[in-house]
Amino acid sequence: MSGLFITLEGPEGAGKSTNREYLAERLRSHGIEVVLTREPGGTPLAERIRELLLTPSDETMGVDTELLLVFAARAQHLEGVIKPALARGAVVLCDRFTDATYAYQGGGRGLPKERIALLENFVQGDLRPDLTLVFDLPVEIGLTRAAARGRLDRFEQEKRSFFEAVRQTYLQRAQAAADRYKVIDASLPLAEVQANLDKLLPELLERCDG
Ligand SMILES: Nc1ncnc2c1ncn2[C@@H]1O[C@H](COP(=O)(O)OP(=O)(O)OP(=O)(O)O)[C@@H](O)[C@H]1O
Ligand SMILES: [Mg+2]
Repeated sequence: MSGLFITLEGPEGAGKSTNREYLAERLRSHGIEVVLTREPGGTPLAERIRELLLTPSDETMGVDTELLLVFAARAQHLEGVIKPALARGAVVLCDRFTDATYAYQGGGRGLPKERIALLENFVQGDLRPDLTLVFDLPVEIGLTRAAARGRLDRFEQEKRSFFEAVRQTYLQRAQAAADRYKVIDASLPLAEVQANLDKLLPELLERCDG
């Protein structure tokens, strides 16, 4: 595959969606084909699975059910959107991917990471993101930003310790494989966050050519 697979990660309200748009616009100004997508979701069927995952319900969703739904959506998304885009050389900017599964279903829900790794290998083969941007910020700030958007989804209703575990899992994963991750301080004002993203651009553009 010749494209570049970039994922944006971080807790609710970290600025993933905002900065995904920003990065897309910067890359497009250099004539690069950018495919913007997100997880869970990214295809009509995967978006329906997203609804199942995010909508609060009277019936408690089992943790294994949640994990399998996440990867079912991912399988659909990979075949329908991500792999075709990479095959034609596009840059894929994906809002959340498998690091989010390690953070939420692993760190947050407490599922063993070996079980997640099993499904990761099953669904993705050896496909991994080329680069993962981790938007990091204190839990409180992220939840305040997300709450300003209105009604809370099934994950946003979790307790504070859940989000602390999510944050720590992201940071641990970034530390363990520093060459694939860039941790972005998402607590800074947006203009400063974007100035820091600009610093990554030369390297990204080089990797698009290579
Ligand atoms: N650096 C920043 N400083 C202040 N506000 C910000 C910053 N970045 C984003 N925001 C604002 O915070 C809110 C959440 O941002 P955004 O939707 O991009 O986050 P997200 O990471 O995509 O969240 P979610 O995981 O819930 O989708 C938006 O209203 C956005 O304008
Ligand atoms: Mg978002």
